[in-house]
Amino acid sequence: MSLSGILPGLAARIANLRRDLHAHPELAFDETRTAGIVANQLRKLGIEVHEGWAKTGVVGCLRAGSGARAIGLRADMDALPLPELNTFPHRSRHAGRMHACGHDGHTAMLLGAAEALVALRDAGNFDGTVYFIFQPAEEHEGGGRVMVEEGLFERFPMQMVFGLHNWPGLPAGSIVAMEGPVMAGADRFEIIINARGAHAAMPHQGTDAILAGAALVQALQSLVSRATDPLDSAVISVTRFHAGQADNILPEQAVLGGTVRTFQPELQDALEEGMRRICIGIETTYRVHVEFHYVRGYPPTLNAEEPTCISREVARQVAVGEQVFTHLKPSMGAEDFAYLSCVVPGCYVWLGNGPGEGGCMLHSPHYDFNDEIIATGINYWVRLVERALVP
Ligand code: NI
Repeated sequence: MSLSGILPGLAARIANLRRDLHAHPELAFDETRTAGIVANQLRKLGIEVHEGWAKTGVVGCLRAGSGARAIGLRADMDALPLPELNTFPHRSRHAGRMHACGHDGHTAMLLGAAEALVALRDAGNFDGTVYFIFQPAEEHEGGGRVMVEEGLFERFPMQMVFGLHNWPGLPAGSIVAMEGPVMAGADRFEIIINARGAHAAMPHQGTDAILAGAALVQALQSLVSRATDPLDSAVISVTRFHAGQADNILPEQAVLGGTVRTFQPELQDALEEGMRRICIGIETTYRVHVEFHYVRGYPPTLNAEEPTCISREVARQVAVGEQVFTHLKPSMGAEDFAYLSCVVPGCYVWLGNGPGEGGCMLHSPHYDFNDEIIATGINYWVRLVERALVP
């Protein structure tokens, strides 16, 4: 039994499954059909199945030999609340939701890898335990965080965890395996400015929430440009500013909100503290009351040394045209995998999805996962297990 012998047929069947998943997208924590397919498929392969993690998450457990080592391979299952504009036959059957981030491909490829690994186990190709982690709600709600909080790593102890995301704009089947930061941490904030309001023609009789808010938006940017080391990366984006309803009234309230992105936990702390300080200054200067709410979101995804070494080595064997990138710029986007890899050393790679139609990117209503990279994805997962759990 060799992987190269079974891979072409397996990849073709997995492509059909991928298209079926694409046609039936499900949103965060509602991935019941997808989870059902995953659990059935794993069971059919004789893999021990644990359902109901973070509502719809599924963990498959495959043991080989007598080794005590264990690793986790993670795929995400959720789609996005976005109306699909594609017209191909496997387009979404459900109005207002679609697989615009390729998680259909991630789920299908990991199921393909499970099938191949069951076949190879009996040939003695690896020794230890593989956990197949199918998580819900990667996009917004942090399904990975919920699985960790529910005791994923206590119930399934493992030494390393691995993730993979398809990446448009990179050559199809190429692999990016970088040590250190790959994806940013993403926090959210809301700032409520309460003022006294006034007649717009007599502003001196009240206080002005809009002027205070405008000053606040400007001042927040000084944290990035003046308080952050120029060699570090940070983004503060104010994405909402709601105030007022009439031309002749200064409103009593302004509500602002947005996101903060960084790669270092220390910088996250420093920016939160800096924003709080600026809010206090705005209160005094503009005689308003400012409520500051800061919510920690996905942590930065930081690839650890050992799993990244293994990923790289495997990537060099399986990447199409041996195209392996180790030093691209990380993304300021965020990734729920970070909740796993901040507990257990992890490596999260990008698998090139090809340039796509007109450079179509993730979260576009025209996006589609590229079925031609399925064989590379399966190959990567299987070789990774053989390498990490070498007999
Ligand atoms: Ni995604």
